[in-house]
Amino acid sequence: MRVGIIGAGSIGNHFAHSFSKANWEIVVLDVSSVAIQRFQEEIYPGRYGKLPDGIQFTNSYQDFENTNFDFIVVGTPPDTHTKILEQISRKLTCPVLIEKPACTPDGQDFNSLVDLVNRHPSDVFVGFNHRVARSTQLLINVLETSTLGRLLKVDATWDESWAGILKAHPWLDSPSASYLGFTARGGGALFEHSHGVDLALYMASRFDSMEITGLSSTIEFSKEGGCDYDKVVQIHAKLKSGCEINIHQDVVTFPAKKKISLEFENGLAKIDFGVEGKFDNFEIQGFGSQDFLLSGSFEKTRPDDFDQEVRMIEKYLADKISIENHPLRARLGLFTAKFSAVALDVANKGFTSILIEA
Ligand SMILES: NC(=O)c1ccc[n+]([C@@H]2O[C@H](COP(=O)([O-])OP(=O)(O)OC[C@H]3O[C@@H](n4cnc5c(N)ncnc54)[C@H](O)[C@@H]3O)[C@@H](O)[C@H]2O)c1
Repeated sequence: MRVGIIGAGSIGNHFAHSFSKANWEIVVLDVSSVAIQRFQEEIYPGRYGKLPDGIQFTNSYQDFENTNFDFIVVGTPPDTHTKILEQISRKLTCPVLIEKPACTPDGQDFNSLVDLVNRHPSDVFVGFNHRVARSTQLLINVLETSTLGRLLKVDATWDESWAGILKAHPWLDSPSASYLGFTARGGGALFEHSHGVDLALYMASRFDSMEITGLSSTIEFSKEGGCDYDKVVQIHAKLKSGCEINIHQDVVTFPAKKKISLEFENGLAKIDFGVEGKFDNFEIQGFGSQDFLLSGSFEKTRPDDFDQEVRMIEKYLADKISIENHPLRARLGLFTAKFSAVALDVANKGFTSILIEA
């Protein structure tokens, strides 16, 4: 099996490492020769050691498009995803995973991406890796086999300071040196940390619906250090059923806080991600006739996040999971982008209620 990875930055390295462990051939494309050199000499050796045998690098789209791939990962900044999918879809027909966030908050960018995803000859995925974390999947499996009643409330927090993010990009002096410090480019708390929105909506889709009938949001913006971004985001949304969704995301909190909790009529469930940098702790509790408490912890490293994603891609390619049931299917990731763009609009324009169709 051969994977084409577009983008030789932080995520490109994570994927190259995980695909190489799964014995895939790897071709990495980046338009920047400096980025390719940094991959080869600094990022990969610094994180993982020796480069994978046979890994190839190119800065030519023409060479890349003349290669046969079984799968492609687009691991570049969010404001390039749509153009890249448009470019590669002309010649390459294999399934594609686009990294999160799928696109920028711009409505035209979103619509073009949806159109391209629909027209691409194979299935498209969006890389919200926390949906496929072992803790998330275990929680879903347990909840699906329990009868805890209606979902009443979902709370998601995804707070991590710039310091945490820049640690994975030591070659950047500040968020202004990349898309990270610019809301319009898909950076800032709302889009960069959209794992919070995404997990809340994913849980809503599993245990209720994706029908949002109301949304209000408060966003603190900043222009510090030559940036222009959303710094702290608070969203409240309501599903048609009345279920409440609360999401907090920021680029301020240190140490990071990443968690999701669900309240049902007869029970509670929660996950704390990355506790002490290495544990996903979960707790699921049933009340009344469903009296039980299940709690535990998955010890994990950063590479586990992407190993798990590669496993889910391999399951799809081996026909063990269909696109309609795949946790990484683009439809969900695109809904997260749409919901986040509406939250930005609502905060800017001061609406308090809106209907979003999935
Ligand atoms: N799921 C996760 O946990 C996770 C972690 C890190 C990054 N990401 C996502 O991955 C994406 C990339 O982030 P990153 O941290 O790797 O960024 P990065 O800046 O480290 O790397 C991006 C690379 O893309 C290259 N690039 C830019 N435009 C290109 C183009 N048109 N064609 C080919 N290469 C191009 C750049 O030269 C750069 O090397 C973002 O959307 C980010 O949110 C996700």
